[in-house]
Amino acid sequence: MVEAVQDAGVVVTGAGGGIGAALARRFAAEGARVVVNDLDAGRAKAVADEIGGIAVPGDASAVITEARDALGGTVDVYCANAGVASGGSEAADEAVWALAWDVNVMAHVRAAHELIPDWLERGHGRFVSTVSAAGLLTMIGAAPYSVTKHGAYAFAEWLSLTYRHRGVKVHAICPQGVRTDMLTASGSAGELVLAPTAIAPEDVADALFEGIEKDRFLILPHPEVAGYYQARAAEPDRWLRGMNRLQRQWEEGTAR
Ligand SMILES: NC(=O)c1ccc[n+]([C@@H]2O[C@H](COP(=O)([O-])OP(=O)(O)OC[C@H]3O[C@@H](n4cnc5c(N)ncnc54)[C@H](O)[C@@H]3O)[C@@H](O)[C@H]2O)c1
Repeated sequence: MVEAVQDAGVVVTGAGGGIGAALARRFAAEGARVVVNDLDAGRAKAVADEIGGIAVPGDASAVITEARDALGGTVDVYCANAGVASGGSEAADEAVWALAWDVNVMAHVRAAHELIPDWLERGHGRFVSTVSAAGLLTMIGAAPYSVTKHGAYAFAEWLSLTYRHRGVKVHAICPQGVRTDMLTASGSAGELVLAPTAIAPEDVADALFEGIEKDRFLILPHPEVAGYYQARAAEPDRWLRGMNRLQRQWEEGTAR
């Protein structure tokens, strides 16, 4: 049991399935009181019933007031997990870009806006952002996803460097492939890049809890991502050549 989360009031957005459901289950197993949010009310309720949590369905951007009431006045841990896997290029519809910004970035900003004043007053709070390795690197075939996940990472980093001396802890989870509906829907690019090393949602929860215990900001459920991230920083052109090879491999595969 991780002492820091026992009896904590926890909110997990997008927790009706996939990684969010695994996080909700793990927090509940660790003794936390968990609010399960999802756009899909039925899925939120099913997970909440299973873990003895409270379902608060709806958009992740508008969950704090109801969640706070449901938890008796305070949210101790907020998991900004809901995300959309918006694929496409610069030519993707404006609506696709707008949704990606809204769910993958602005929902995090709005939640922090509501949570931070209370956390600063109480001297503690924990913000968990399910980013993606695409927020550190870049995913082929998915410009809106890559760009907004970089945004989510930057926002988590900004929160951490701004408030860590005032008791706010931040974790950015950056997995590659995770076996969820999102991976199934990711098409041929996901098949090529993500599926071969995909892990289970429970592995992501394990990595987060290890990160909580070790007080780490960056959570890498796929440890090899650390090497890719270093290679990108050390030699950007070499790294881009490698990624472009992957792009061409993908183009050849889809042309067949
Ligand atoms: N699956 C992967 O390979 C992978 C890899 C890296 C990062 N991620 C990230 O992990 C997070 C969870 O993804 P997943 O793989 O579990 O996906 P998933 O599709 O299995 O689950 C996402 C859940 O979020 C809900 N949702 C979507 N928009 C919402 C909104 N606006 N408000 C509330 N709920 C909303 C969906 O209904 C769904 O239940 C996402 O942020 C995703 O980008 C996933």
